[in-house]
Amino acid sequence: MKNIFSTTVNFFLKNWFYLIAIVLIIFAGTLLNKKPKTIDEKVEVLLQKMTLEEKIGQMNQYNGFWDVTGPAPKNGDAAKKYDHLKKGWVGSVLNVKGVEEVRKLQELVINETRLGIPLLFGFDVIHGYKTIFPIPLAEAASWDLEAIEKSARISATEAAAAGINWTFAPMLDVTRDARWGRVMEGAGEDPFLGAKIGVARIKGFQGDSLNKSNTIAATAKHFAGYGFAESGRDYNTVDIGTVTLYNTIFPPFKAAVENNVQTVMNSFNVVNGVPATANAFLQRDILKSKWNFEGFVVSDWGSGLEMIDHGYAKDLEQVAELSANAGSDMDMESYAYVKHLKELVESGKVNIKVIDDAVRRILKVKFELGLFDNPYLYCDSLREKELTNSKAFHEAALDVAKKSIVLLKNDGNILPLNKSQKNIAIIGVLAEEKNSPLGSWRLGADDSSAVSVLEGISKYTSNYTYAKGAALSLNATNFVDEVMINETDKSGFANAVQAAKNAEVVVMVLGEHGFQSGEGRSRTNLNLPGVQQELLEAVYKVNKNIVLIVMNGRPLTLNWADANVPAILEAWQLGSQSGNAIAHVLFGDYNPSGKLPMSFPKSVGQLPLYYNHFNTGRPGPKKEVFWSHYTDESNEPLYPFGFGLSYTKFDYSNLIIDKKNPKSITVSVTIRNYGKVAGEEIVQLYLHDKIASIVRPIKELKGFHKIMLKAAESKTITFTLTEKELGFYNENGTFVVEPGEFNIMVGASSKDIKLQQTILL
Ligand code: BGC
Repeated sequence: MKNIFSTTVNFFLKNWFYLIAIVLIIFAGTLLNKKPKTIDEKVEVLLQKMTLEEKIGQMNQYNGFWDVTGPAPKNGDAAKKYDHLKKGWVGSVLNVKGVEEVRKLQELVINETRLGIPLLFGFDVIHGYKTIFPIPLAEAASWDLEAIEKSARISATEAAAAGINWTFAPMLDVTRDARWGRVMEGAGEDPFLGAKIGVARIKGFQGDSLNKSNTIAATAKHFAGYGFAESGRDYNTVDIGTVTLYNTIFPPFKAAVENNVQTVMNSFNVVNGVPATANAFLQRDILKSKWNFEGFVVSDWGSGLEMIDHGYAKDLEQVAELSANAGSDMDMESYAYVKHLKELVESGKVNIKVIDDAVRRILKVKFELGLFDNPYLYCDSLREKELTNSKAFHEAALDVAKKSIVLLKNDGNILPLNKSQKNIAIIGVLAEEKNSPLGSWRLGADDSSAVSVLEGISKYTSNYTYAKGAALSLNATNFVDEVMINETDKSGFANAVQAAKNAEVVVMVLGEHGFQSGEGRSRTNLNLPGVQQELLEAVYKVNKNIVLIVMNGRPLTLNWADANVPAILEAWQLGSQSGNAIAHVLFGDYNPSGKLPMSFPKSVGQLPLYYNHFNTGRPGPKKEVFWSHYTDESNEPLYPFGFGLSYTKFDYSNLIIDKKNPKSITVSVTIRNYGKVAGEEIVQLYLHDKIASIVRPIKELKGFHKIMLKAAESKTITFTLTEKELGFYNENGTFVVEPGEFNIMVGASSKDIKLQQTILL
């Protein structure tokens, strides 16, 4: 026994080194064999396998560059990009759509690259893919978060069925200047409403689980300040102080990050002298550090390259260095990363940790989307057929379109029209337009696929005469070219006037062409374009009984119409179901409920114009000139933020504020429908912090409820105000809640305050 014991001990003593080595090898083997479970672990395992070139490849995004179903490109830029694809030097493409194309491209990458990392397919699914919903500014007028979420859900479902797994939406830029053509793409001038709508859209796009085949990653864009382009000129300089940045620009983005938005897009503009793409304060300090954003940042199209024109980078190499170091993770179409990042890492100008961080973020989104389990998750041609343009989707588009219409004026209750109305004259070329109502961001849709106003009305009555009056555009319109507006040809006026003379009521459809708003489409004049104002006045001379339907992508100056025309319907660009939605409202099958998400100016000279401004030290009006005003125009908008009428009337009473718990104040109010028809009211709560350590706006939206009331019905609704609503960011960007007096206002618009009370907190 003793022998066996001492032999064993001796054996261990002699061979201890080998034994420990064996144990360690077994241990390491188990570790290595351990299957990564979480997405973070999977990302780490993959990252370890990647070469520097492959990592940089993930940070590179190309626009679709050849007809994927045709032969491979043999020369030029396309051949180079094709070669990059095969080497695994491309992480994502944009503007490649349709199951066949997407599948082919994905197959190429999966089968031919060393690691087979699937591509992200990005696309501007801005307000629909095939079935087009109202432009986002219009949808915002619905204040209907459920409907907006549904619209994004359907857009995602359709786009995902066509191979897309990533949308560059929602645009969260707060906009105060209607000259800027991209106001159509956002939710208007208010950060509170903008945040709520942004979150609804993100939820709609991303659904409850990203790795389902009908959900796509969303993008919060453009970070930051793009909507504040000086004088409303697109791509122009932005200069914003801390208070505006934190209290106005940031809130929708912060809310997006809190609600799991997968990607953020930076912007073309400079912010206080530094281009957003190379802005470490925005991308690293705020987004990734303060807000803990875990997704990735994509540059805007060529925004890296544009830093050379900005005068911020001397060449593409410096572009790559500055953008990567500042936290711009993926380069859209600047070619900066793919060309220069490798040398920059090797020379030590960009730390490998910067690259690893960016690649981790990009891979994580790909894992979240389920692309590593099935790179063809979004490639089912049967689904594509079934799910594109479905009847149910069009019903939803009609629903949102109706809800987006705003009734601006209705003197003498000329609206709704009687269904048996005799002799309607329909005037204005936009009435027959099937393309314009789709807006400018509808890259997946079939051209001219909207229901026109004429088609919509003809479902109700055939008792109408149509006269176009005058052409609006003179050229073939599209996404890239300037629209040439008809400024002279009035040859159709006589017919229009004749039709109006014989009519009981005239429905005039006037406004902007769909391609007059959107990117690169700033205007200095917000009147009805071309000869439309003259047409309106010519018709008015013979028949004053006019219902004006305005189609537009931004607030317009409608002073003359407001002063003269008895009824005005704001109908934006309402998408595929435009004409049906308008007809439903015209004939009273839907009672309009929309409220403006952006102030309509009286004059371009008032811009930027927004309800939540400061009081200034010289508010008015005063009898003499020394107060903050214009000598030739009032300070007031023509139609304020939050404004919109209904075919019924609402009464507000019984404002009760309970501040027993100062951390959760409740405000209740009773609303009664005292008209004859059912209708929806959007009840708005505004707050004014009267004295604070920095000047606060005269009022700010802090809550809203959209309620349906039958005729004679009343409802009591309750708002809750917490520190989130009561506080603000001070001049250091610190969130503070300060005690003092707060005026709480409840009303039907930012101007039409029905009840208010000042409380001390
Ligand atoms: C726009 C972005 C858009 C991108 C990709 C840019 O010109 O500013 O909003 O997502 O193009 O199409």
